[in-house]
Amino acid sequence: MAKKRDFLAITDFSTDELLALLDRAANLKAGMDKSKLTGKSLAMIFKKSSTRTRVSFEVAMTQLGGHAIFLSDRDSQIGRGETVSDTAGVLSRYVDAITIRTFAHAEVEELARHASVPVVNALSDLLHPCQVVADLQAVAEEFGSVTDCTVAWIGDGNNMANSWINAAYRLGFELRLACPAGYDPDPAILARAQKAGKVTLTRSPAEAAEGAHVVTTDVWASMGQEDEMAVRAKAFTGFVVDDALMALADERAIFLHCLPAHRGEEVSASVIDGPQSRIFDEAENRLHAQKAILLELME
Ligand code: CP
Ligand code: NVA
Repeated sequence: MAKKRDFLAITDFSTDELLALLDRAANLKAGMDKSKLTGKSLAMIFKKSSTRTRVSFEVAMTQLGGHAIFLSDRDSQIGRGETVSDTAGVLSRYVDAITIRTFAHAEVEELARHASVPVVNALSDLLHPCQVVADLQAVAEEFGSVTDCTVAWIGDGNNMANSWINAAYRLGFELRLACPAGYDPDPAILARAQKAGKVTLTRSPAEAAEGAHVVTTDVWASMGQEDEMAVRAKAFTGFVVDDALMALADERAIFLHCLPAHRGEEVSASVIDGPQSRIFDEAENRLHAQKAILLELME
C-alpha cells in the first residue's frame, strides 16, 4: 500500500505538485474535472472558530460525493483531554482523512504522525496552507501565472505570512514582507526561503508595495492573541493597506485578505471594498483549492 500523504504545509508538495494542484483547482472550478470521493468521509477537528474553512471543506466533501463530520473541542472528547494519539487512532478507523484547526503546530504534526489516514492543516498558529493555495489560485486567475508576480505582505509575520513564504520558496516568485519590529515571520521558514530566492523582509510597507502585483495583509491580532490587541495596534501603526499604499503598487495590482478583516485597522474600507479587491474570489477559491487537495490525498 502506498504511504499516506498529509498536507500540513505548502512545502509538503513539490514545485511541480503545487503547480499541478493549482491547475486542478482551476479545472474543478471550471467544471472540467469531475472527480469524486464517493462514500468517503472527512473528520474536521476545530479548536478555533471558523466560517470559511469549515463551510468550504464541508461543501467540498458534499459536492465530491462524500461526507464531512464537524468535531469541535467543546462537544467531543478532545476538549475533555482525550489524547491526540488516541483521537488519531480512533478517527483513522472511521474516516478517510482528517482536517485540524488548532493552536500549536506540533499538535497538527502529532495528529498526522498517529493517524493512518491523510491529515490536512486547516490552520495552526504557524501555518495556514489551504488559504494560501486558494490565494495563489486567485493570483493565477488574475495574472495567468503566479511565478512571475511580485507579492507584498504588509503586517504581522503570522501563519499567513509564513505560508506565503513557503509558497515563494516552492514557486520562486518575489515576495516582499513588511512587518513591524518584533512581529517577524518564523525565522527558520524565512531563512530557508531567503537562501533559495526572492524573499525579502523590510520595516517599510511602501518599500514592499512598490510595483507589486499583489498586496495582501491580515488582522493584527490572530485567534488566541486577542489580549495583545492594544499593544499590537500601537506596533502596527503605519501598516495599513490604504489607497496611498495601493497607489505605489503596479497599476493592475490586486488586494487579497484571507478574512475575517477589520476595516479601519489593517486595511481601509476603500481598498477592501474597492475595485482592486478580490476577497470574494479568494474566499470562493477555498472550495476549489481544498477539493483539489482532498482529491490528491484521498483518491
Ligand atoms: N480565512 C479563513 O480561514 O477563514 P475562517 O477562519 O472563517 O475559516
Ligand atoms: N491569522 C489569522 C487567520 C485567520 C483565518 C488567525 O490565525 O486568526
